[in-house]
Amino acid sequence: MSANANHPFPAQPISAHQARRAALASRLGPGIAIVPTTGETARNADSTYPYRFDSGFFYLTGFTEPDALFVQLIGEDKVENILFCRPKDAEREIWDGYRYGPDAARDAFGLDAAYPIDELDERLPQLMANQPAVHFALGADSQWDKRLSGWLNSVRSLVRTGVQAPTRLNDWRGPLGEMRLGKDEHELAVLREAGRINAAAHVRAMRFARPGQMEYELEAEILHDYYRQGSRFPAYSSIVASGPNACVLHYGENNRRMQDGELVLIDAGCELNGYASDITRTFPVNGRFSPAQKAVYEITLAAMQAAFAAAKPGNTWNMPHDAATRVLIEGMRELKLLGGSVDEILETGAYRQFYMHRTGHWMGLDVHDVGDYQSNGAWRELRPGMVFTIEPGFYIRPAENVPKEFEHIGIRIEDDVAITADGHENLTASCPKTVAEIEALMARARED
Ligand code: GLY
Ligand code: MN
Ligand code: MN
Repeated sequence: MSANANHPFPAQPISAHQARRAALASRLGPGIAIVPTTGETARNADSTYPYRFDSGFFYLTGFTEPDALFVQLIGEDKVENILFCRPKDAEREIWDGYRYGPDAARDAFGLDAAYPIDELDERLPQLMANQPAVHFALGADSQWDKRLSGWLNSVRSLVRTGVQAPTRLNDWRGPLGEMRLGKDEHELAVLREAGRINAAAHVRAMRFARPGQMEYELEAEILHDYYRQGSRFPAYSSIVASGPNACVLHYGENNRRMQDGELVLIDAGCELNGYASDITRTFPVNGRFSPAQKAVYEITLAAMQAAFAAAKPGNTWNMPHDAATRVLIEGMRELKLLGGSVDEILETGAYRQFYMHRTGHWMGLDVHDVGDYQSNGAWRELRPGMVFTIEPGFYIRPAENVPKEFEHIGIRIEDDVAITADGHENLTASCPKTVAEIEALMARARED
């Protein structure tokens, strides 16, 4: 990979962030928008968790340092983009490494002005003076809520000097969420690459799997392949769930020894330049599906195909889920896990014994990305640029209506799709998922 000119994957151009700022300003209207990033989080003593910037802040700025805040002054015919960030500090940089500082950040990220973050309390009241509205994510972080109250009170204390305090508070999360829901070409390029990297890592796990290994050994293969390919972080905690653990939806201990004859479900995603990928594959630890495993797997895959067929512009958000659910229910009837007609089973919700989650979620900078699923009380229409997962599952815990041969089989298959002008693009298609493909790949790996 290191010989590849496209590696590491390039950052999005500043022009992309500038276009988003302009779009946000026109959606919000006159006022001052205030968008902080996240701070660092202590793990223990002097150690912090790996830093991850706020997704909305990054979307607008491209800036990835902690302790920063983006301000947008939106006038009737002029918009000013301002960054507050950590000041240059020769001493701190010896310990912690390079930081931009306001001047270099302003130039590198195409901003109108930048100031040290420690000038926030002095400058924010001045910037808020005479603004008609404050655009702010109230309630997202109580510390920032408190700071905002302080700034507002500072402006109000100046009213006798002729200054007017903002009178309207408006949440930017709705408009920004709507923007982030429609991915632009730059975002689609990153998501496509994240999908490719993630697919390759899942293939590596299939190749390495052997009975007797610990689940975390497969997790290690996945993470190894992410880092090697330039994804520096997983997008979420990896699930490597063998045998009965596959029926625990958010299993994450990954510390069980995998047995011959079992399936292993791996739900893992890499993050590339801030963008997530989210793949689940379920495969036999020993490389061969048993007849019962294969039967359940084929039903789940057929449900996925039905969802794919419904993932196209003009359809609504619920249609892939409804299509997948019907196929799963037909399968539950075929396997004699449930009686009654498909419509009856839908009506009573009895299928939830084996399928208790929805078939997908928006995906982007956050693995469960922002954006409403309904609009005016109706499921929203799919349109080009929307990116989401398709992830039907079939989970069979022991119960009176469950024959022994199906006990503890848990299957989920998950890909990421982007709606296009005439259908969808599967961003993770390079990860094999038919029984024949998986068995062939695992057989080859055992000959090597
Ligand atoms: N990996 C999280 C999800 O599939 O939703
Ligand atoms: Mn998912
Ligand atoms: Mn997943």
